[in-house]
This record gives sequence, structure tokens and C-alpha cells, in this order.
Amino acid sequence: MVEGGYVKKILIIYYSQSGQLERILSRLAQGLEWEKSEVQCDIRAISPVESYPYPWTFYRFFNVFPEAVSLDGCPVRPVDLADHYDLIILGYTVWFLSPAIPVTGFLQTKQAALLFKGKPVITVIGCRDMWLIGQEKMKTLLAGLGARLLDNVALTDQGRSLYTFVTTPRWLLTGKKDSFWFFPRAGVAEEEIQTMDRFGKRLAEALDRDEEQGDGPLLSGLGAVNVNGKLIATERIAHRSFLIWSKLIKAAGAPYSAGRNVVITIYTVFLLSLVLTVVPMNMLIRRLVSPLCKKSISRAVSYYEQPSGR
Ligand SMILES: Cc1cc2nc3c(=O)[nH]c(=O)nc-3n(C[C@H](O)[C@H](O)[C@H](O)COP(=O)(O)O)c2cc1C
Repeated sequence: MVEGGYVKKILIIYYSQSGQLERILSRLAQGLEWEKSEVQCDIRAISPVESYPYPWTFYRFFNVFPEAVSLDGCPVRPVDLADHYDLIILGYTVWFLSPAIPVTGFLQTKQAALLFKGKPVITVIGCRDMWLIGQEKMKTLLAGLGARLLDNVALTDQGRSLYTFVTTPRWLLTGKKDSFWFFPRAGVAEEEIQTMDRFGKRLAEALDRDEEQGDGPLLSGLGAVNVNGKLIATERIAHRSFLIWSKLIKAAGAPYSAGRNVVITIYTVFLLSLVLTVVPMNMLIRRLVSPLCKKSISRAVSYYEQPSGR
């Protein structure tokens, strides 16, 4: 307890479909409360007015693409909140290199404007393996609300990108997470989820010292993020193409309309042919030129590792 018997209040707010991100955050909360039982932790889920059913169907999955990319958000239900929080932990997943639509929707509410103003925030991401651009967008949204981003923790699905390119969509479209053939289990490794309590424990120590009132990161040196330098260019290129295609798909019609579904079909065929041709070619070219780009890649890696670092 802080001097004068003041109990610090933490809000953990998130949106999770399968419950994976929810488990990640509840393990963090366990570490926090274990170390510092005087902390009061409110855990709240963001609830969109119209739910996004999970598992997804193919067309529902791609129908949210344009709105996710252009940060349109969606109507969300008001969240039951206390009057004051000392720290906010915002958990979000990434949808098409952008924060998940319900999280964007919540950040666009009046309730969020009041909640986040001037508040220290820690973001926690659980996604396949591409969160860099999503976090850039999140930084802009939080800055718009006047929040202070102290740390970022990012957990990604187990296995190499080549494998998760199959295991993550299989999981999202069927609900199946099990390993099969030579593919690993889908989602974040259990060990990574279980060891999330280390962030909670560190946070408890930092809160004791009122460090959340400063601007420095609280979670350095704990492996908060692991930026894969090989994916930086891919994300940037993909996002540029996402911006164009999201406009085309939107222009084709309202969500779930026949017009939109036709353009989505064309887009996915285009995307698949790109993945099968341009991506391997790009990987080969990058391997050849990477000795020349080492410096710029490592500069970009250190940028995206901020604020918490490895
Ligand atoms: C519509 C949609 C798009 C997604 N796009 C990405 C993406 O661009 N990058 C990424 O790393 N993961 C992506 N994912 C995976 C999610 O970030 C997340 O790992 C998964 O949905 C499980 O989260 P949950 O806790 O909500 O179940 C996407 C998931 C969905 C449903």
C-alpha cells in the first residue's frame, strides 16, 4: 500500500474473441495481485453492439477488412468503470495490421476520451506475428486521447511465419488449435501465457515507487517485445496495398453485399498469388541485399522495440 493507505486502481480493458488475449491478461493480473494485494484491479471486456462471431466464415472474415484498415471502429456498449484509475492496461488483437475494430470503436467513444486523458497506458498485444503497423496506429489513437504510452508487450503465435500463415487462419476459420502434420499448435505458446505474471510482478514494484507517474517504461529487460526484422518490410508493403484495396472493397458495396463479396473474391485470389510468387521472390532478394541494409533494419528494429525494449 502506498503512504496514507492509498490503494492504486488499475484497469485492464480488452477485446478477445477466443479468450486467448483474456488469458494472457488474467495471468498478468495474477502476477500483479500476487505481489501487491493492495492493488485493485478491474478487468473489463469491450463488447461491440453487434458481435463478431467466432470462428469466422471466409466472407465475414474479409468483410471486416476495409473498416479495420481505415480505423472506422464500431458501436460498443458502455463499460462499467470506476471514477479514477492510476494505470490502464489496454489489451488488443490485430486485425489486418490494425487494432481490432471493437477496440478502435471503444477508443472513439466519449467514455474513452474521459478515461484515457492524461493517463499512463500499457498496451498488450496478442496476435499472429504482425503488430508493428497496428501499434503505430494505436500510438496515434492514444495520442489523440491525450494518453501517455509507457510500455508495450507483444505476444505472437508460436512457430515460424510460414507455419502460422496456415495455423492461424485455420484456427480463426474453424476454431481448431491442435497441431497437425508438421504444423505446431495454433496461437501463442502456453509457456508465454503462463510467464505473463512476470510483467504483473514488475508492475507491482513500479507502482510501489509511483513510477507510473513518470514517462519512462516500467517493463524493460523482461522480453516485452521481440521485433522480427525480416517482417518489417513485408508489413510496410502489405499495409500500403491494404490501404488501396480497402478503398476498392468499400467502394464495391456495403458490408456483406454481393458487390463487396465479388471484389473480396478477386482480392483474395490476388493476395494468394502474391503470397505464392512475390513473397518468396522478395524473401530471396532481401536475403541477397540484407548485408547492405543491416544498419537500416537494426535502426527500424530498435524503433519498433520502444518503449519497453527486449
Ligand atoms: C479479422 C482478423 C484479422 C487478423 N489480422 C491479423 C494481422 O494482420 N496480424 C496478426 O498478427 N494477426 C492477425 N489476426 C490474429 C489476431 O490478432 C489474434 O491473434 C486472433 O484473432 C486471436 O485473438 P483472440 O484473443 O481475440 O481470440 C487477425 C485476426 C482476425 C480475426
